[in-house]
Amino acid sequence: MRNVGIVGTGAYLPEKVLTNADLEKIVETSDEWIVSRTGIKERHVAEEDVPLSDLCYQAAVRALEDARVTPEEVDLLIVATVTPDYAFPSTACLVADRLGTRKAAAFDLEAGCSGFIYAATVASQMIVSGLYRTALVVGADTLSKITNWEDRSTCVLFGDGAGAAVLRAVEDGYGFLGYDLGSDGSGGELLIMPAGGSRYPATVETVQQKKHTIHMAGNEVFKFAVRIMGDSAIRALERAGLTKGDLDLLIPHQANMRIVDAAVKRLGISPDKVVVNLDRYGNMSAASIPVAMDEAVRTGRVKYGDIVLTVGFGAGLTWGAIAMRWARKGGEA
Ligand code: ACO
Repeated sequence: MRNVGIVGTGAYLPEKVLTNADLEKIVETSDEWIVSRTGIKERHVAEEDVPLSDLCYQAAVRALEDARVTPEEVDLLIVATVTPDYAFPSTACLVADRLGTRKAAAFDLEAGCSGFIYAATVASQMIVSGLYRTALVVGADTLSKITNWEDRSTCVLFGDGAGAAVLRAVEDGYGFLGYDLGSDGSGGELLIMPAGGSRYPATVETVQQKKHTIHMAGNEVFKFAVRIMGDSAIRALERAGLTKGDLDLLIPHQANMRIVDAAVKRLGISPDKVVVNLDRYGNMSAASIPVAMDEAVRTGRVKYGDIVLTVGFGAGLTWGAIAMRWARKGGEA
């Protein structure tokens, strides 16, 4: 059986930064509340006329450069997102066209904040099967576009961004070693954009009622996240034949520092083995894990041969984790 791993990463953040002080001017909140409840200090936000595909394209170009792969070599392109440019065509097709991949199979995948882990798993299995050789997986979201800026319980949490990874066959014992994906649709309404789909197509009323924005039962999602992050991480490690003690680096979904802390406690690992960037970016949904992964590469925190575990949860409700032996050769990019 082929081993598949990440051979290049890239990320892109929009320039505009929204600090907690900026949010204090928009809703009744405070820097103190946001930092103590979430750990978030600032986030990047796309300009109004910038679509998701722009962010995806920038991250994808960087990942391809990092992997030294040309667009023509990409034969599978998956974009994980809940904020595509359009309902159709898929954002993946728009990105494929702009990159000039020509022949790549391209589609979007929706699994909320677990999207990148889902997409990387799907891509890896399509390479393992022999169907494709080179996959480009993008995790990206512009949640600012579907945020209710009058709802202080959600608008302080999210940021925009894109991360990408190139996947290929790697040497034996390296790359993805253990996976865990799952869902519990009974929790679907806990985190939902109610209108804009076939159940509630857009009408004047749905727009006036702000049903095209994120609705979240924060406390319920929090409890689910705390439980599932640890469970899923341990399952992926076990399936890889690894233990918590083997772990060199944890790259968790960056939703809330208290959720990350709970996962770290459950795994019993030292906090210096955990990548955290939510203070600077907030929760970027499907982008959060690949952006954190790219930062870990560029700052030299992950080295060839390291055991890396990534784990996340999101709308659906979904969850996912991948345990891997880092296969990208070389140090800092
Ligand atoms: N500023 C000030 N006060 C606020 C704010 C705010 N921004 N937001 C809520 N409050 C108030 C509430 O109104 C409430 O006031 P009350 O006690 O007078 O009613 C109080 O603060 C406490 O509110 P809680 O919701 O209980 O606060 P909690 O400590 O649970 O934190 C939070 C809320 C941060 C949303 C937390 O529940 C959380 O992180 N949940 C997980 C959310 C998450 O990760 N979502 C992403 C999922 S991934 C995806 O797919 C996008």
